Amino acid sequence: MSQVRRLPPSRYGRFSEDGREFVVTDPRPPRPWANVIANERVGFAISHTGSGFSWIDNSQLAAVTRWQQDLAVDRSGKFLYARDAETGATWSLSPAPVWAPFDHYACRHGFGYTTFESVVHGIEARWTLFCDPVETVELWKVELSDVSGRPRSIEICGFLEWCMGVSPSPRREFQRLFLETWPDSSRRAVLARSRMWDVPSDRYGHWNTGFPYVSAFASTETLTGAQGDKAAFLGRFGDTDAPEALRQSAWTPLFGRHEDPIAALRCRVEIPARAVRALGFVLATAASAEEAGTLVDRFADTGVMDASLSAVRAGWTERLAAHRMETPDPALDAITNDWVRYQAIAARLWARCGHYQQSGAFGFRDQLQDSQVWLTIAPELCRAQVRLHAGRQFVDGSVYHWWHPLTEQGHVTKMTDDLLWLGFVAANFARETGDLSILDDAASYLDEPAPAAVSDHVLRAFRRVFARTSPRGIPLIGAGDWNDGLSAMGVEERGESFWLGQFLAGLLADWSTIWSRVGHGGLSSEFADRRTELVAAINRHGWDGAWYLRGTLDDGRPLGTSADRVARIFLNAQTWAILNDVAPPDRAASCLASIREHLVTDAGALLLAPAFDSPVSEIGYITRYAPGLRENGGVYTHAATWAIAAAAKAGDADLVGRLLTAINPAVKDPDRYFAEPYVLPGNVDGPDSPHHGRGAWSWYTGSAAWLHRVVAEWVLGVRPEWDGLRIEPCLPPGWTKASMVRPWRGSTWEIEIERGPSARLEVDGAPVRGSVIPVPAAPGARRRVRAVF
Ligand code: GLC
Repeated sequence: MSQVRRLPPSRYGRFSEDGREFVVTDPRPPRPWANVIANERVGFAISHTGSGFSWIDNSQLAAVTRWQQDLAVDRSGKFLYARDAETGATWSLSPAPVWAPFDHYACRHGFGYTTFESVVHGIEARWTLFCDPVETVELWKVELSDVSGRPRSIEICGFLEWCMGVSPSPRREFQRLFLETWPDSSRRAVLARSRMWDVPSDRYGHWNTGFPYVSAFASTETLTGAQGDKAAFLGRFGDTDAPEALRQSAWTPLFGRHEDPIAALRCRVEIPARAVRALGFVLATAASAEEAGTLVDRFADTGVMDASLSAVRAGWTERLAAHRMETPDPALDAITNDWVRYQAIAARLWARCGHYQQSGAFGFRDQLQDSQVWLTIAPELCRAQVRLHAGRQFVDGSVYHWWHPLTEQGHVTKMTDDLLWLGFVAANFARETGDLSILDDAASYLDEPAPAAVSDHVLRAFRRVFARTSPRGIPLIGAGDWNDGLSAMGVEERGESFWLGQFLAGLLADWSTIWSRVGHGGLSSEFADRRTELVAAINRHGWDGAWYLRGTLDDGRPLGTSADRVARIFLNAQTWAILNDVAPPDRAASCLASIREHLVTDAGALLLAPAFDSPVSEIGYITRYAPGLRENGGVYTHAATWAIAAAAKAGDADLVGRLLTAINPAVKDPDRYFAEPYVLPGNVDGPDSPHHGRGAWSWYTGSAAWLHRVVAEWVLGVRPEWDGLRIEPCLPPGWTKASMVRPWRGSTWEIEIERGPSARLEVDGAPVRGSVIPVPAAPGARRRVRAVF
């Protein structure tokens, strides 16, 4: 299916021909354009300027290097300096921190690596940063070529500042009192550790334990200098754009427990005229100095680095190969096939980090939803995520809203939807794979060590939600449902959520099916009855006249009503009413018309409108955002993907087309949109902001996994159901065909979809009645599907 089709250029860069790299060519796009690079344990965020930081296991609690989040300046982090030993000319191999006048500059963000290309002062440089696919090492491969035609003597200096703990820290002076650094000259390395980790620990007490890792920063080259103190390196009140040490021929190294801990490693590279020299740096982090040293010994070799980079590239190609789509829109294909899945896996599941947000924690609902990215390509990993989250539930059915791996600190809230996502994702796993044994997977409760089956976890979640239902039969909103910012609506446990009711109605239908398939007829009919009652209650109490209310406050006031001046309509309460068949056909049509009239802008579907313009204590912190920002009347891309699904379900191809174009970062005007053209932002400003259409909070967003699923299942319409694979496309106007290859139930399915005069579905040339392909009796074959609609 692969082809070379033109992707739209951006004013500040372009996609590579295969769409798998974004090449920033102008060092001054409107905002830092970043990459998030990770394996399952270590990673780093890096922008097109070179700024960023590194972590292990938890991007907030276990930051290895320090940086200052500052999107306007973006000149903080780990850098690589070059200096011409003859002329003294100094530059950095990324724009920051020196901002030398490059004759050529490119920053290539790819899957699992970023490469900076530069030409300045007669030296052409390529600096590639990546993590080994498996080991806890970050690798910097450097190639320097002389393009001046004379032999060159170039000093290269790698620089980073140790954090070795929680980041960001408002207590830098406190934190550094516990850090220790030391050189290991035989390894051309400096090492660092911290004797205090400022996280509370049940085991060791509050702030009374050491940071459990040691890092080593090493060069492949013989060192001509190593420095461990920041002021000694920069000079008094110096800055990273012109460190004094680079001009000094000899350094007085300062290591130990009493300095301001950095690592600067200098080496000298002799380059014959027109020749190329390769070198590298390794940042290894492990449980002990010995282990970090062993990693350095293995990886401080440019050949080993090259092999590791090849494995990174091959890994991503293979991971994303099994499920691909082709549509008439090559930009959408590059985003959905590759970039959003890379975003969901690397940034959301592994790194849990973006340039705008360093989380490190697992959000109970967040990473469960993200893990749906594995459903078609590695369903066992989705299943493992379900087990992981099940283990963060209490016996009363409640769950941590989020928890930190490493310390297991968790946040208990009155948030009401979190616990239901376990059943949502487990049901999606079962529907995709047909494998109901996930119900028997075991995980213990936080307050009960004996393992319990996933079905037990899910049932306890349901029972808790059933118990927290208003007298009118609507689930309580507590301290928020999917929308975190509705944080005060129901803290007295009286406020209701119609969206939560709609979400629950879908789950009740799914679990009624599941219970019946595993022989729990009683539960199955109970769930079916509950669904019928819930749908009736939502329709009785939740209809505002032209759309559904969002909920009610503790004092009974409705939210999301045409009677109000602000926040009159909320998106999710309309889209999920359609998606989960809560709305009867006339109301579904009215919801869709209201979405079109009040929420659809060229920047996407707004989460609510009009925005709140002043704080309302009884609603929550959503009202405290400036109008048009994030959940407060912005396009919240996570929810905007559901709007695409709802429009497709309703058969509104025109709206599907508009919303797809609106969400596609590759086709935006960067001077209005600001955010990266290759990944999704969390939010785009709505019309109540002076910057309507401006994207922000990129990378760390639940929309990434969802966009892929929505395009596959709703736009192309290839949707696993309990008894087969439904093919029910809703292609935007102007698309006459699309295709997909995907695994399903042990076979590889090659599906061609085209518009035609009369609807027809064929599998391997044989007609199939209706639009659902039955589960094949014998798996293993390649099957061809032709769907004319
Ligand atoms: C953030 C949270 C997510 C929530 C969303 C909407 O992205 O991580 O859990 O659903 O905001 O408020």
